[in-house]
Amino acid sequence: MKGIILAGGAGSRLYPISLTASKQLQPVYDKPMIYYPLSSLMIGGIKDILLISTPQDLPRFEALLGTGEKWGINISYKVQEKPEGIAQAFLLGKEFIGDDNVTLILGDNIFYGNMQLASIVETFSGGGLIFGYYVKDPERYGVVEFDSSGKVVGIEEKPAAPKSNYCVPGLYIYDNSVIEVAEKLKASERGELEITDVNVHYLNEKKLNVNILRRGIAWLDTGTHSSLLEASDFIATIQARQGLKISCPEEIAFHMNFIDKEQLDDLIKEMPEGEYRLYLEERYKRQDPFEKH
Ligand code: G1P
Repeated sequence: MKGIILAGGAGSRLYPISLTASKQLQPVYDKPMIYYPLSSLMIGGIKDILLISTPQDLPRFEALLGTGEKWGINISYKVQEKPEGIAQAFLLGKEFIGDDNVTLILGDNIFYGNMQLASIVETFSGGGLIFGYYVKDPERYGVVEFDSSGKVVGIEEKPAAPKSNYCVPGLYIYDNSVIEVAEKLKASERGELEITDVNVHYLNEKKLNVNILRRGIAWLDTGTHSSLLEASDFIATIQARQGLKISCPEEIAFHMNFIDKEQLDDLIKEMPEGEYRLYLEERYKRQDPFEKH
């Protein structure tokens, strides 16, 4: 399974903070936003990752994340010259995907809670797999329509009159045929290759699974100043209570056995003195039989 993070877009709703660095480079409490979707892919056991961003921002992501080697993963980079839709990621990523299946995550999507991603990725058997998440304002998203038995019968992009409260978060898993599906797409009225059209294609082919995310999972929005602050507050609250960091790639790399303890210690030694380093130094000092959980 390959992984793609799409971190493009103008971030215009975050003006002026997005003038010098894209939305996905902004902090969500104590980490750059991109750490969160990257962590989701890592937790899913995905080690080959392509990051797609704008010509201006791509070098900044490279400076931040590098090759991924330090975290036991491979990160490569690709420019998206113009924001022409989420599904464009499969065209830009065609070579990178090769013959593999692919998981796409949007660079501003933050998930928290045990979604069983590793087993979902491991048992993925083809077609498309997306998620459904109950929200109060579904009209802002792709929305799933169900029949009375709970069967998925439609998906609409930002409908004025949503047929349910279940929207489609920015995490999508497809088999290799997604490249061909994306190649045949036509741009929508807003001039974009819509991910919803990809999903409708798989639905029509009866090859779409929608995994409903139950209560206990948080999917956070970061697109506006207030939702960015709320996301930071959410992360800060849980981290303060537990003293455990959410989406700390060094820790996840260790837990996933992408790096060993010695490599983790080396990474810590390279960090500047400060809260982040102290956390990792203290984290593994005490005996914890569940430390990798
Ligand atoms: C996009 C998708 C939409 C999806 C959302 C998730 O919306 O088009 O289907 O629900 O991401 O974040 P956009 O970012 O274009 O508003």
